[in-house]
Amino acid sequence: MPRIAVYPGSFDPITNGHLDIVRRARRLFDRVILTVAANSSKSSTFSVAERVRLAKACVAGLGGVEVDTFDGLLVDYLRRKGSRVIIRGVRAVSDMEYEFQMASMNRAIYPEVESVFLMPDERYTYLSSSIIKEVARMGAHVEDYLPVPVLAAVKRRFARRKRK
Ligand code: PNS
Repeated sequence: MPRIAVYPGSFDPITNGHLDIVRRARRLFDRVILTVAANSSKSSTFSVAERVRLAKACVAGLGGVEVDTFDGLLVDYLRRKGSRVIIRGVRAVSDMEYEFQMASMNRAIYPEVESVFLMPDERYTYLSSSIIKEVARMGAHVEDYLPVPVLAAVKRRFARRKRK
């Protein structure tokens, strides 16, 4: 049986920090499914289709990694995929409160599930999609933090907004 891990998130958009976690997860599991949450309560900058397209472009060279999307409960998605492992990246202790809440709830509704927390490279400790968007919107250089396909999409998105 291949060991399948699911890496869920908003990925709005995917960053080098997310990709770092994907690579680490892939070292531990045979297949990693990065899945974009379609019904997140957060308002998003990129549509689900755009987020999936960007994530696919970024993981194209990585064997054993797929990109998907899901709606509804994460644990129902895991059951459908035959997975019992949720991957989450944690950057700092402050992330853990939210992560513990989610992991406990997921375990309560799917007792066989394990949440696996991975720490990204230190370069990405302070990285988040929302911070990147905030500074990119104001014209800062974000080349070090975004994969090439995402960089182009972010530039286009904020240039268009400026023109409006
Ligand atoms: O990148 P994010 O926004 O921190 O990801 C959060 C996400 C999408 C993993 C979480 O909100 C989620 O799992 N949503 C699906 C609905 C669900 O199953 N909720 C119960 C988990 S507490």
